[in-house]
Amino acid sequence: MNNSKSTPTHVAIIMDGNGRWAQLHGKERYEGHIAGVEAVRASIKAAVRNGVKYLTLYAFSTENWGRPDTEVSALMELFCKCVIGETPDLVKQGVKVRIIGRRDRFSDKVAEHLNRIEQQTAEGDKLTLVLAFDYSSRDEITTAVRHLAQSAAKGELHADDIDERCVANALYTAGIPDPDFIVRTSGECRLSNFLLWQASYAEMYFPQVLWPDFTQEEFDKALEEFAGRNRRYGKL
Ligand code: FPP
Repeated sequence: MNNSKSTPTHVAIIMDGNGRWAQLHGKERYEGHIAGVEAVRASIKAAVRNGVKYLTLYAFSTENWGRPDTEVSALMELFCKCVIGETPDLVKQGVKVRIIGRRDRFSDKVAEHLNRIEQQTAEGDKLTLVLAFDYSSRDEITTAVRHLAQSAAKGELHADDIDERCVANALYTAGIPDPDFIVRTSGECRLSNFLLWQASYAEMYFPQVLWPDFTQEEFDKALEEFAGRNRRYGKL
């Protein structure tokens, strides 16, 4: 299991390429997202099997609200369907779900489903699946700064006492170790507002494969790539 330094404790994935996959197969964009669910299942299974402890998936960015209403609605429906359909299997696998991102812009129905999956999987101890929903790094950092400023204004915190640990604890990801390895599928090489603070020392990998084609074998291949990296954290 995860007793080797060459296995990342935390893998974070930008699931990209659903739309292109759909186009390639003559399908509607939302069918690409539906096909992407199988890659989510495969990644969870492969993460558990390899002893990865945290798997973060970028499921919906704050910018994704700008997509056509039909696509946003289809994605919200899909998330709710997944919560209902996948929860028993997640519990069986020992997966605990944690949601990061804003919670104030979802419909009551979606917010309820997100709360439900966190509650029903709370006992999972094999893998923490972190789902980034209505998430962006700049929003996360801005929110954290606002909270720290409010604490300082109330006299609960001195400005001189604000250090990196303090900032990290004010982020949505408080208590979650930084990602060791960030993967973005579809060949795009950018972070797109994802875990900018947390990515400081992460290794990155940009396979060409489109997200719906990201199988357990692709996940294993990504871990092999990570195992070959030499991490120096700014030292020699
Ligand atoms: C990016 O591909 C993908 C998304 C914005 C949505 C990801 C959602 C899923 C995989 C559905 C299920 C997820 C969970 C966690 C239940 P894109 O649409 O930007 O692709 P493109 O760049 O080819 O257009």
